[in-house]
Amino acid sequence: ARYWAILPAAGSGSRFASTTPKQYLTLINKTVMQHSVDRICQLPVQGCVLAISAHDETAKTLSFAKPALLHWVTGGVERMDSVLAAMQYLQQFATAQDWVLVHDVARPCILANDLQHLLDELKEDTVGGLLAVPVRDTLKRGNAGQVVETVPRDHLWQCQTPQMFRFGLLLDALQQAKTKQQLVTDEAGAIEQLGLPVKLVNGSSTNIKITYPEDLGLAAAILKAQAE
Ligand code: C5P
Repeated sequence: ARYWAILPAAGSGSRFASTTPKQYLTLINKTVMQHSVDRICQLPVQGCVLAISAHDETAKTLSFAKPALLHWVTGGVERMDSVLAAMQYLQQFATAQDWVLVHDVARPCILANDLQHLLDELKEDTVGGLLAVPVRDTLKRGNAGQVVETVPRDHLWQCQTPQMFRFGLLLDALQQAKTKQQLVTDEAGAIEQLGLPVKLVNGSSTNIKITYPEDLGLAAAILKAQAE
């Protein structure tokens, strides 16, 4: 089976207090988006679809390591709409058994080792899975600034991207979630709604998602440490 990649990059970054969308901020030597795209393009992918906002005038002016692999689509209102738009575009190339990896453009520190581990672990799988790390902090449910209860953290995982599924299943799952107006915040969530098993593949805690301004400094430190 062949591999395809999708990078949803159409978010407005509303939790990020900056006029520049977070994927266009510079991290050491290039933008967040260039780091993420270039790392995913190291994989043996047939193509990589970037979903960007209709108002985006920056993305296509950037230089990338493997420009010939890139395809562009206009994203949607929610992350899932952006991913669905990219999936519908890929329908002309991909077969049901092909693999598709969806990776947040806001995760520029993804390691080649973790990507390879994900591919290896899922190679014989009929559905797919995602990179995740076990929750390490104590979790509490709160209400109005008060602890309600401690939530046992055994069996709890923090989910990352890439999330990797058979193309036909993911397209089906996303289309059904859309039709039924189910709230899904990641690809696995849509697959779970179909009652299909999703594999958890151990990733690294350094695969952070840039959400707040202070995450940029952390990401820069992670990239520097990876380069040593
Ligand atoms: O906002 P958040 O960090 O959860 O977004 C995760 C990813 O989804 C980001 O890469 C963002 O650009 C993308 N996204 C999108 N279309 C939207 C909302 C978010 O492609 N409508």
